[in-house]
Amino acid sequence: MGEMYVPVSIESIQADLFPDVALYIRSGEKYILYKSHGRNFTASDQERLMENKVEFLFVSPADLEVITTFMENNAERVLKDNTLQAKTKGKIIYQTSINFVGDIFEHPEKVSDFSRSKRLVENLLQYLASDRDSFNSLESVMAHNYYTFVHSLQVTALSVLLHAEAYLLSHDEMLDVGIGTLLHDFGKVFVAPAILNNEGKLSKAEIEEYRKHPEEGYQYLKKNTRLSEISLGVVRCHHERNNGNGYPQGLKGPAISRSAQVAAICDVYCTLTIDRACRKALSSAIAVSIMKQEMKGSFNERLLDVLEGIVCTENPAQFL
Ligand SMILES: [Fe+2]
Repeated sequence: MGEMYVPVSIESIQADLFPDVALYIRSGEKYILYKSHGRNFTASDQERLMENKVEFLFVSPADLEVITTFMENNAERVLKDNTLQAKTKGKIIYQTSINFVGDIFEHPEKVSDFSRSKRLVENLLQYLASDRDSFNSLESVMAHNYYTFVHSLQVTALSVLLHAEAYLLSHDEMLDVGIGTLLHDFGKVFVAPAILNNEGKLSKAEIEEYRKHPEEGYQYLKKNTRLSEISLGVVRCHHERNNGNGYPQGLKGPAISRSAQVAAICDVYCTLTIDRACRKALSSAIAVSIMKQEMKGSFNERLLDVLEGIVCTENPAQFL
């Protein structure tokens, strides 16, 4: 696969804040230097590129950390800024986080699904910004663990695509699905950061603690927000498994709401393919094949096929 350049959507670059990294343009399989380190990326550069329908610039793997840290700090700065209205916060957070949404595709700049999921997530965050309780909940997730927030955004982007492919959903139901999925890991705000950030093995007690997050999230959101049953179902049941081996309730098959089934699939897929510490842990094809074979029985098979169709559009046979 070669080295991974990170696509950065041009509209998300705020010329005066963006860190000083070299930016590249992609041409075929090659990356050509657009702006070297030390040269400013100006608002007129941005305008010109957008006029020419260039949607992405790329950051080289050497600068991955700088760029990730920037996005993290930027989100934090925005959250703490009390002078900003929820709507503006939503917009800025969307702009800086949207770059991560591309991670669910192997070649985001090539797939039209990417722009589609970007738009859906944008609408969703805009909507959320008008609903105080839900937006506050999302803020808590972000403030507690930025990685959880990014992950939730990725799972949501994929989930709305999967729903759109698999079901005919009304606009309202899509919103409910999206909000539930954005908040699916809300219960992690009750889990100690030491457990969430632990990359080694967890003890039995720690696993138990971690596994409380779906139920605790559900209980809290049910009491403190006006989220719909559909949204709440995603929060509570995203770790249930088709064969009954999941938690918290060990529900089976159709007893798990369809949106929670979709969330479970997208959650695992995103965890397998996206590992920001070492960039792309597994390719889409390998991740899907693990979910179909090694994890056989865990997921709804029809939905897995739909997932495959979305994420493995390029050379699906390459791996086999
Ligand atoms: Fe979870």
